Amino acid sequence: MTKKRIFVTGRLMPTARDRLEQSYDVTIRNERKPPARDEIITAARRMDGILTHVNVAMGAGVINNLPDSLRIIACHAVGVDNVDLEAAKARGITVTNTPDVLCAATAEIAILLMLGAARRASEGERLIRTGGWKSWGVDFMVGTEITGQRLGIIGMGNIGQLVAKRARAFDMEIHYHNRRQLPLAKEAGAIFHDTVESLLEVSDVLSLNCPLTPDTRHLLNRDRIALLPRGAIVINTARGGVVQDTALIEALKSGHVAAAGLDVFDGEPILNPAYVGLENTFLLPHIGSATVRTRTAMGMRAIDNLDAFFNGSEPPDRVV
Ligand code: GLV
Repeated sequence: MTKKRIFVTGRLMPTARDRLEQSYDVTIRNERKPPARDEIITAARRMDGILTHVNVAMGAGVINNLPDSLRIIACHAVGVDNVDLEAAKARGITVTNTPDVLCAATAEIAILLMLGAARRASEGERLIRTGGWKSWGVDFMVGTEITGQRLGIIGMGNIGQLVAKRARAFDMEIHYHNRRQLPLAKEAGAIFHDTVESLLEVSDVLSLNCPLTPDTRHLLNRDRIALLPRGAIVINTARGGVVQDTALIEALKSGHVAAAGLDVFDGEPILNPAYVGLENTFLLPHIGSATVRTRTAMGMRAIDNLDAFFNGSEPPDRVV
């Protein structure tokens, strides 16, 4: 039987690449820079599937120009906001993602951002690296302690729940907002808020863990930021588009938000330059899932979906 042809939009971890190459006729772009629209369309000619990465825009302009042979887009990510799902659905193209396997790694980064932002880690690092550390004093680089603070989580899916679990080790009181209230066992004592607004009012630390959808774009806007307690800390490991950058930057400048820990940015890898100029930001380049174990597991999960699809069974992680 001829092997199905798969176009991969960027590198894979070696174990995942080897497995994919054993079962499929694979064309891999060996680059980190994402392909432009026309490159995807050209590369997808005669392909049966695409394995795509989070930084690749698969808008309607791409999807409507994919060949009829192309039946599946397997995303190497849990978030699928880079894919126009309506366009895929209209063309009968299956879209899958890679949930679960990246929860631990992403929750770790959320905790790192919380600690880094609250304890001014970037500022301290910078001071040492630039030779600026000249003295020590009781009021030198004093920050905020997260221990015992109220943590508000927007989006209590698997990642949000794991952030809550890790945060309990710091005696944080967990509050959350989600489309649906979780069953008691999953809540594990977390307090449900049926509106974002009510959650924000009690969030000394706010962690964004929701997907980016038309409903959540700029969810954290000026009016909502104003509801946070003064001195709150904002953490984003979800998607940059959930935050209205100008509003957060204004609040970081005024001190209403004491610090922000951000792993994701609207328009990344280009970000609002004001974030870089602020001392009270702790910034990472979208590395929530970036461990060898997790990135390998994500590749494997994407291949599980391709395998199921081409074997005629239901892919385990169908989104569309
Ligand atoms: C990473 O950002 C993902 O959605 O998997």
